Amino acid sequence: MQVRRCAHVLVEPRETIDFDLTELALGGTGVRERLGWVALAAHRDEDIPLDQDEVVALGAVSPSHWQDLDALAERHSRGVLDTLLAKGLLIAQAPADESSRQFAQADEAVRAVHWRGLSAVAHRHTRWHGADTEEAERHFAESSEQTFLERLGPALPAVHARVEAAQRMPLPRPAPSPLDALTERRVTCRNFDPVPLARDVFAAVLYRVFGARTVCDYAPGVQLLKKAVPSAGGLHATEAYLLVRNVEGVAPGLYHYHPVEHALEPLRGLSDEEASALARSFVAAQAYYAGAPLQIALVSRFEHNFWKYRNHAKAYRAVTLDAGHLSQMVYLAATELNLGAFITAAINEVEIEQAFGLEPMTEGPLAVCGFGVRAQERVTVEFDPQGNVWTSRTA
Ligand SMILES: Cc1cc2nc3c(=O)[nH]c(=O)nc-3n(C[C@H](O)[C@H](O)[C@H](O)COP(=O)(O)O)c2cc1C
Repeated sequence: MQVRRCAHVLVEPRETIDFDLTELALGGTGVRERLGWVALAAHRDEDIPLDQDEVVALGAVSPSHWQDLDALAERHSRGVLDTLLAKGLLIAQAPADESSRQFAQADEAVRAVHWRGLSAVAHRHTRWHGADTEEAERHFAESSEQTFLERLGPALPAVHARVEAAQRMPLPRPAPSPLDALTERRVTCRNFDPVPLARDVFAAVLYRVFGARTVCDYAPGVQLLKKAVPSAGGLHATEAYLLVRNVEGVAPGLYHYHPVEHALEPLRGLSDEEASALARSFVAAQAYYAGAPLQIALVSRFEHNFWKYRNHAKAYRAVTLDAGHLSQMVYLAATELNLGAFITAAINEVEIEQAFGLEPMTEGPLAVCGFGVRAQERVTVEFDPQGNVWTSRTA
């Protein structure tokens, strides 16, 4: 059998701390610390414990060329090599069973996209599945008498001043501009009115943020889009996948936005209940964001950006920054139309990938945004210290 190592794997020396009642009963502290090796692979969601022999054998197998397993077994225990195969860290060229086939397929998906190893592992293993922020807050409150801020201790100053006040060079303040007027009303919205969002307003924000103004033939077979936001390499690798709950004339469901055609691509219809449940799970149970009439998953097509920036140390950072630019544009376009907008990074990536049918290492969500009509009353906290949004409302 021919095998090779998976494309990207990092091995972490990890300390786990757990509680041992027997040890406590014997007069100890009950706290047990265990050190061990854990493999974090770019094609597997699980943390995979390894023993020392497995670590050594893993480091001796090439990820790039196929090797004969019998020949490897002359230098490493056959049992160890079989375990690494069963754990999906060694990949078989001709998989003999379903799990080996899945490991090979997932590894191939990582290889095809030209990930940088460190970024690939970081992305794969920082995705959430089934995270529930409400539950986490409850658990936090029950596990201590201290408030969140008490546990954190003193914060750093808001600004890291580098010189004495007298040494600073004051700069002229600009005369108020329309941009100032717009940005002053930009306040992250956590209070949405349950009224349906008008279709033309919905379409206007999508166009201004995600719509392509023009398509340029940059080189044979290479098209570049011009949009309102900058984008790494001009590739606009981040696309909008929508969960629509409550928009006039748009049935609840999952959609992809086509930026050149300025059109929705329907992917799956949803009942109201399904749409609400998905909205809640996408944003890890942040109920105030689940109440928005729509959510936009900012999905990066890694394969598109990494086509140009292959195995590149900055590429993953660049696509993350792309998402930030889009998010600010969502805020501005929504604010201009007197709507509220939000972004959250506390998302269940796995549920979003599953809903939209995305291969996690080929294209995946980096954040979720949304917008809608603001509620008349502020129930959930918002950061509006100057009262730019809430003075005219019941605060
Ligand atoms: C990258 C990013 C992630 C965020 N994630 C969350 C989040 O998970 N939950 C939330 O309520 N707000 C989230 N926010 C919104 C911030 O809490 C908000 O921007 C901040 O409190 C300042 O308020 P302002 O946007 O109204 O100025 C996020 C903002 C950014 C830029």
